[in-house]
Amino acid sequence: MTDDDLIALDRAHVWRPYTSSEDHQGRSLFVVDRAEGPWLIGADGRRVLDASGSWWCNNLGHGHPRLRDAIRRQSERLMHCTFAAATHEPAARLAAELIEAAPAGLNRVFYSDNGSTAVEVALKIAFQYWQQDGQPGRQRFLALPGAYHGDTLGAMSAGAVDEFSAVFRPLLFDVARPAEPAGDDWTPVFDALFHSLDEAGDGVAAVIVEPIVQGAAGMRMYPAPLLAELRRKVDEVGALLIADEVFTGFGRTGPMWACEHADVTPDLLCTAKGLSGGMLPFAATLATERIYDGFRGDKSRALMHGHTFCGNPLGAAVAREVLSIYRDDDVLASAAPKAAKVKTAIESMSEIPGVAHPRALGMCAAFEVGVPGYMGKIGWEISDLALELGAHLRPLGNTIYIVPPLNIDAEELDQLLQIVRVSTERVLRSGQ
Ligand SMILES: Cc1ncc(COP(=O)(O)O)c(C=O)c1O
Repeated sequence: MTDDDLIALDRAHVWRPYTSSEDHQGRSLFVVDRAEGPWLIGADGRRVLDASGSWWCNNLGHGHPRLRDAIRRQSERLMHCTFAAATHEPAARLAAELIEAAPAGLNRVFYSDNGSTAVEVALKIAFQYWQQDGQPGRQRFLALPGAYHGDTLGAMSAGAVDEFSAVFRPLLFDVARPAEPAGDDWTPVFDALFHSLDEAGDGVAAVIVEPIVQGAAGMRMYPAPLLAELRRKVDEVGALLIADEVFTGFGRTGPMWACEHADVTPDLLCTAKGLSGGMLPFAATLATERIYDGFRGDKSRALMHGHTFCGNPLGAAVAREVLSIYRDDDVLASAAPKAAKVKTAIESMSEIPGVAHPRALGMCAAFEVGVPGYMGKIGWEISDLALELGAHLRPLGNTIYIVPPLNIDAEELDQLLQIVRVSTERVLRSGQ
């Protein structure tokens, strides 16, 4: 089949995520035939750099030979089986290894399939914990403005990116959150959050945050001391802290977990995306032993939540291999010089008239090219040009960002940074 045939089939039968039916019929589609390392490759051999990490999950590049091998080996033994009153080596060993890699104090692993479910599980655990542990009045959740925690109803309730959730507002539960920051000053936002925490006090079940970097809000970054202060305030009122590390985990911002920037251990930590090296749908919610203990007792105290594929052996096997690659290749340390290069390159973009607020943390960098927001069009013009030049950018409206694999080769990284610069410069200059 030719690419045109495939696009015609897609347009005829697929319902695309985040795409209006109108756009589906009109916007061009890149047909990916295969992928390796940071490259997406078309059937005609055309190679483009996957700058958005295939939805922010491809931390070790596509088709990593060790990950492929782990999946193949596991597929020959056990691809799936119930996780009800049964266990298997990949899930049991992964739980122990994940705990070893997690911030100290997290001791239990609940498996699910994707970032949204990891968040749903965290919210449900937090809620039920208080219901059956003597403080049923703790029912409120607090969150940050601009938060994004996934597209299921609970995760959307915790989130606040209107483009995703406004239409569903009547279906969502109420989550308190401060107003948007004015510019880049997050201190008043956290002060307002602390004030709400004090006010709601023993009515608060948990505060949920994306630690340090808010991805879908436009790769917004806030200072680590504010997260450390939040941990203290949450403790003061006796509530729980949920860290949604779905995007920031697995070294995306430098350390293994963004919480480490603030030396914070959350009570619940959500991980997905990089957990499976972006290879398979696989997720986990980590909890402290204290929370797990809150579910002891008779059957009525169980967390009545589970998914057909939770703990899936293929996903668990690939996640074990991911952790082992991080250890063997010292992925975090070897990414550090590349992160420094990304920071310098992105910060130098401020020389281009029209580029605003360049920022970078670890292997995550972004800048604005117009009024921020999802509906911005300049970002898409830049992404169209970048595709011609050899990079697949997926802007968040007028926010251009890159999240390349942590193990990207230095030359390929240079190439990506060059394409980002040239495409941005050309589009912004042509608009002047
Ligand atoms: C911080 C955060 N939480 C949750 C999710 C949802 O993950 P998924 O798309 O796997 O459901 C995302 C996805 O981008 C995310 O960035």
